[in-house]
Amino acid sequence: MGEPPPNLAARLRAHGQQHLLAGWAALDASERERLVEQLAGVDFAELERLYRRRSEPHAALPSRDRIAPVPVEPRTAASIALGEAAIRAGEVAVLLVAGGQATRLGTDRPKGVYPVGPVSGASLFQIHAEKVLALRRRYSANIPFLVMTSPATHDETIEFFNKNRFFGLPSDSVTFFQQGTMPALDLATGRLLLEEPGRLCLSPNGHGGCLTALADSGLLTKLKADGIRHLFYFQVDNPLVRVADPAFVGRHIETGSEVSSKVVAKTDPAEKVGVLGLVDGRCSILEYSDLPHAMANERATDGGLVFRAGSPAIHLFALDFLERITTGPTRLDFHLAKKKVNCLDDAGKPFAPTVENALKFELFIFDALPLADRWIVMEVRREDEFAPLKNATGADSPATVHKLLVDRVARWLESAGVTVPRANGESKFPLEISPLYAIDEEELRGKIRSRMNITEPVLLR
Ligand code: UTP
Repeated sequence: MGEPPPNLAARLRAHGQQHLLAGWAALDASERERLVEQLAGVDFAELERLYRRRSEPHAALPSRDRIAPVPVEPRTAASIALGEAAIRAGEVAVLLVAGGQATRLGTDRPKGVYPVGPVSGASLFQIHAEKVLALRRRYSANIPFLVMTSPATHDETIEFFNKNRFFGLPSDSVTFFQQGTMPALDLATGRLLLEEPGRLCLSPNGHGGCLTALADSGLLTKLKADGIRHLFYFQVDNPLVRVADPAFVGRHIETGSEVSSKVVAKTDPAEKVGVLGLVDGRCSILEYSDLPHAMANERATDGGLVFRAGSPAIHLFALDFLERITTGPTRLDFHLAKKKVNCLDDAGKPFAPTVENALKFELFIFDALPLADRWIVMEVRREDEFAPLKNATGADSPATVHKLLVDRVARWLESAGVTVPRANGESKFPLEISPLYAIDEEELRGKIRSRMNITEPVLLR
């Protein structure tokens, strides 16, 4: 490729983006090819629309009288039976989103390979895959396991699964698919940024990108043809998640819900977690940054927070609903964020900004919630199902995840009649149970028959 394709040059000129070809002469053939390919995937008109929104004030929540707390659903024996029947019938697939860049954790590897097993050092991917495998075995069911990656995580994720023989899962039951990317724009000019000569600054388009990626890749159609009716959604950074919890699946089916969500009680009004609430009668996220102080602090008669339904990002989608919202005009819209992005300056030299210099765009999964006509919310205990790994230190870090994982095993063992030696309330030894040994407390109770004497770290697998 000698000259840039003329139609490309004209297209860039029309959108004021001709700077992207300034370094063309110095690129080798493969770099030119990559740049042309990257630019072919860019919707410049869409970027211009988004750039115009950069100084719009953030849409405030509607007035208080239009907002109400969400009612929560009970776990019942009937719903457990219904959920189990659906899993056994092969109607449930599992979707893990693992395309994020893990910037706060500060690792350049996919977050899923991060070791979190308190005794074994098992990775997040291993823990999640073993939960799916345990469910397959318990219900003798086929449970498709979909793993969404991004260009930032794709190759290494597949390599990791291969190297670990898919953690015992049949390899044909695991599907990797990539989410889309979005270019970063220069905040001052709206021009696309380059991270190196001939390479755009692209980043994954947010966890909400899974919906379009599922539809555009043909996976939704395939799942439907394979008899799947419900898709369990969770995120790679929560090792406590109860994958395809039958009570949750069952209640979702029983109520004809299109989107079901788990929530955990928020106890500190200042906690930085989005809460679910009703806005004009529809289930919606109330982002913590939008929640006025007075609402965040409102108390119910039982003393608990009124807006307490904290979202751990665990959802169950009816496949028909996903089809409906990914075809036609109701697709999710992007959120804008001003960020510091390393890039090339006008002279083509590397530039590390000290203040926000770029606009980035992401789709959020929870924007799908208000599109549902029927939905439910189920509250679970935070310590049972939510241990997010976000930061390298402090809150939501490897240390807090380790403690939450050990605490849960300690509680399960104690409920099975085992004495767990504790110091200052915490287990003296690291404890771990592989999902292949027990996926829930009841299963563990059925397995611990003899007296266990804990005098050292314990790993049950
Ligand atoms: P976060 O928003 O916490 O992002 O993602 P992150 O990549 O893990 O961490 P930071 O913000 O860069 O520090 C929550 C979940 O959504 C997935 C992540 O992999 C994680 O499971 N995710 C996020 C995607 O799959 N794609 C994205 O574009 C963003």
